[in-house]
Amino acid sequence: MKGILLAGGSGTRLHPMTMAASKQLLPVYDKPMVYYPLSTLMLAGIQDIMLISTPEDLPQFRRLLGDGSRFGVRFAYAEQPSPDGIAQAFLIARDWIGGEACALALGDNLIHGDHLSALLREAAARPLGATVFAYQVRDPERYGVVSFGADGQATEIVEKPPQPKSNWAVTGLYFYDKQVSDIAPRIAPSARGELEITDLNRVYLEAGTLMVDKLSRGYAWLDAGTPDSLLQAATYVQTIQSRTGMLVGCPEEVAFRMGFIDADRLKEQASRLGKTELGRVLMDLAMGAHA
Ligand code: DAU
Repeated sequence: MKGILLAGGSGTRLHPMTMAASKQLLPVYDKPMVYYPLSTLMLAGIQDIMLISTPEDLPQFRRLLGDGSRFGVRFAYAEQPSPDGIAQAFLIARDWIGGEACALALGDNLIHGDHLSALLREAAARPLGATVFAYQVRDPERYGVVSFGADGQATEIVEKPPQPKSNWAVTGLYFYDKQVSDIAPRIAPSARGELEITDLNRVYLEAGTLMVDKLSRGYAWLDAGTPDSLLQAATYVQTIQSRTGMLVGCPEEVAFRMGFIDADRLKEQASRLGKTELGRVLMDLAMGAHA
């Protein structure tokens, strides 16, 4: 399975912070924001990843991530000239996807929780249909919202409904089967002129092949699209890391634990991070202290 990291958009809700810098490169505590969804894709076992961003920001992502060998993955890069919708990622990446199954992670979403890797691998292994994750929130009208019938099956999925029928928001992490490259070009722009990911998901829902996994309260899902949510995400990462000594959203650690890189490669990466706390934790891991 391949994976797309979508890191474009104009980040207007974070102006002036994003007037000269990409939103997905802003720090979330001790790492650039894009590291979190990157770690999520890697936890699903995905090693072929295309990063899509604006023509202006793409060089900075290349500088940060390179060819991916540091993380034991392969990066491809593509431009999205203007933010015409999340589902457009599948049109931009069509040749690169080459008819395979493909996941999509939004560059500003952070998902964290116990056994996340098993949950993600299960979604990646499903041969038919699409899988999305739903999370209970206080303000569903800000998101794609899914509602369920009495039997627990998803019945409806709506983008930013003014009167949401449930408080289950659809997170920015999506797994699609091989058909996605044929379905995405059939989506028409919405009233706000975007190719909506919710419309793509609705095609799968109506075909009876959309699996909606509810994330229990043992998981945290955060997006970092506004000053408040950016600060909340940073505080969350800081709290977990300083309390437990375990890292949140660290692609070097995930690469090592997934067997994408060996201990020598991890030591190199830890050394690159110099005297930072992150470098120290990774060095300990490479030396077997926390294996
Ligand atoms: O965070 C989950 C939500 O993400 C879902 O519940 C919604 O269904 C989905 O539409 C999306 O809603 P947002 O309002 O958060 O979408 P936004 O326009 O902020 O875009 C999300 C990320 O994708 C953001 O980091 C920018 C990037 N993006 C967005 C668009 C529309 C692109 O790179 N290109 C685009 O064309």
